[in-house]
Amino acid sequence: MANQEDIFKNIISHSKEYGFIFQSSEIYDGLSAVYDYGQMGVELKKNLREFWWKAMVQMHENIVGIDASIFMHPTTWKASGHVDAFNDPLIDNKDSKKRYRADVLIEEHVAKIEAKIQKEVDKAKERFGESFDEAQFKATNARVLENQTKIDSILGRFKDALEKNNLEEVRQIIVDCEIVCPVSGSKNWTEVRQFNLMFSTSMGAVSEDSNVIYLRPETAQGIFVNFLNVQKSGRMKIPFGIAQTGKAFRNEIVARQFIFRMREFEQMEMQFFVRPGTEMEWYNYWKGARMKWHSTLGLGESNYRFHDHLKLAHYANAACDIEFDFPFGFKELEGIHSRTDFDLKAHEQHSGKKLQYFDPELNQSYVPYVVETSVGLDRLFLSVLSKAYVEEKLEDGTTRVALNIPSFLAPIKVAVLPLLKKDGLPEKAREIMNILKCEHACAFDEKDTIGKRYRRQDAIGTPFCITIDHQSLEDNTVTIRYRDTMLQERVAIDKLQQIIDDKVSIKKVLQSLM
Ligand code: GAP
Repeated sequence: MANQEDIFKNIISHSKEYGFIFQSSEIYDGLSAVYDYGQMGVELKKNLREFWWKAMVQMHENIVGIDASIFMHPTTWKASGHVDAFNDPLIDNKDSKKRYRADVLIEEHVAKIEAKIQKEVDKAKERFGESFDEAQFKATNARVLENQTKIDSILGRFKDALEKNNLEEVRQIIVDCEIVCPVSGSKNWTEVRQFNLMFSTSMGAVSEDSNVIYLRPETAQGIFVNFLNVQKSGRMKIPFGIAQTGKAFRNEIVARQFIFRMREFEQMEMQFFVRPGTEMEWYNYWKGARMKWHSTLGLGESNYRFHDHLKLAHYANAACDIEFDFPFGFKELEGIHSRTDFDLKAHEQHSGKKLQYFDPELNQSYVPYVVETSVGLDRLFLSVLSKAYVEEKLEDGTTRVALNIPSFLAPIKVAVLPLLKKDGLPEKAREIMNILKCEHACAFDEKDTIGKRYRRQDAIGTPFCITIDHQSLEDNTVTIRYRDTMLQERVAIDKLQQIIDDKVSIKKVLQSLM
């Protein structure tokens, strides 16, 4: 059986071969951590965005959407804390010239010690069987205790160093832990420096007039600065939300794992404005609602888990991630943050404009608190792709690669296939195609054997193939072939539209969220 690493490689090459994802500017050898979506990828991405938008905006009377600009007034990023604090600590290895995130090197080192503890636990479990008491073992076994003390000491020093912004101490931890560069194997490290993740450019034609501006690192700030515009023009009453999807940019130091960590990516964010003091209630509500939304994608509930943030960002009083079991393990898919009144207050201070809400029930004005849900569209895409991809051995000994994408999200919903390229079959197929294409993304394919055509559609995740044969000309029936079961059934052409509408409808999925 192929391991996860091989499967992930296969998913990446499948994405390219079938027009889902290409490396950006590939003819120039690509641009690191920047990707283009191809003809299939763009459809799947659009469908995921639409599903999020409908679930958040259309299904909630008190949530509206906006589309703010990528460029914003530079003071926005001073107010939000990104100019001063949106940093990663980086370190270079002098021999390999490779750059690393210092925090990641330390976390990976700690993970290795944790793995040693787990190994001891697993060994003991095997030895003692039923009677094994894990908690007691961890509290008494000398080797486990020694390793746990190491972990506590490293993490304690690291937390302290971060709080004091003591980068020399961060470097010293790396040295003391004897962490080596995975490429050169050496411990020849530079000093640790803070690296701001925002991309900057300049606005204005002549250099003297130009201002440094940033490409937004999150879409959220476009919502905060428009809070009062939307509240007033939409006569919104608290609690209410503003949703937005769009590009964000981060100059990630270590960018790898395909579209998981990109330098240009898309976020789908919703800021929910609430009365101060009610934020924890809403935080818990949105944790539940967002997990439910993910579960409707049908990728398997055990592939998701919550992970509470131990170290909270400067703006948050509670925060967690929804993690997904990607081919490289559980990693953050979505963030849910209780952002307090930090952002609106900061924008009030920097702009000198009041960003308050008059609450008629309390007869008082206040700066609302905010609960944010923020999911990366590209990571969501990767979650669907990685679980949809299957390599199957069939009964006849052949293999097929299929993408079991939920029907309502599939890039192409129906493929229309005349069995032969003659006898009036293509013309009949075109008639059917013309009926279906007004409603659904359809493909027309008359090349190669029908078996090859089915496989091509399986590989791009088309849930239904309709085959037009000689009988179709006689009795106006066609066969539908189902991607997941590969079964076929004969149906009347005049029932076709209804059948397909029903099977690819987003309506039922949205109803299940109510
Ligand atoms: N407004 C809050 C915010 O931006 P975040 O946890 O930094 O929070 C939210 O980002 C989501 O955006 C993440 O959960 C992830 O899905 C996505 N994301 C962040 N950085 C990314 C990157 N470099 N590449 C792809 N997606 C990214």
